Amino acid sequence: MNMPPLRIGLGYDTHCLGNGGPLRVGGIDIEGDLHALGHSDADVLLHAITDALLGAADCGDIGQLFPDTDPENRGRDSAEFLAEAIRLVRAAGWEVTNIDCVLLAQRPKIAPYIDEIRQRIGEIANLYPTQIGIKGKTGEGIGPIGHSEAIAARCVALLHRVG
Ligand code: CDP
Ligand code: ZN
Repeated sequence: MNMPPLRIGLGYDTHCLGNGGPLRVGGIDIEGDLHALGHSDADVLLHAITDALLGAADCGDIGQLFPDTDPENRGRDSAEFLAEAIRLVRAAGWEVTNIDCVLLAQRPKIAPYIDEIRQRIGEIANLYPTQIGIKGKTGEGIGPIGHSEAIAARCVALLHRVG
């Protein structure tokens, strides 16, 4: 099949929140009164990005590559998941055009941390910060997001063929 040289992927993730910081999100630790619960380091943003990239490149999903039943993945730095996803993307002949993300959290405000997060994701995935869009959104005080019981992230990734 003669495929056009572009692919899009969608990633989504959610984690429960617990009392006490710091909150690991986008590869950085945000000090405060909340942390995300999970098998790995529970970095919801890196998990959504990882799945968007894997989906775009037809490389499965994060749960297939790194099962949460595997003790090796307990407490694991999610930067390793993202690094492996980007390695697979490039090995399959694709390069990232851009990714764009929404982090859904009542608090903390992530706007002050966006530059640092873009820098960090750029380091992990070997991308320019300008290729990485990050936006925060509250839950308007309702539902699990709005009551700070959960945090969620969505990401779209666009890939273009290289070589
Ligand atoms: O104004 P609107 O209802 O569209 O959005 P909001 O959820 O009230 O959030 C307003 C603004 O706060 C967002 O556009 C972000 O700039 C910022 N924000 C943030 O930095 N971090 C969050 N966790 C939530 C919102
Ligand atoms: Zn996750």
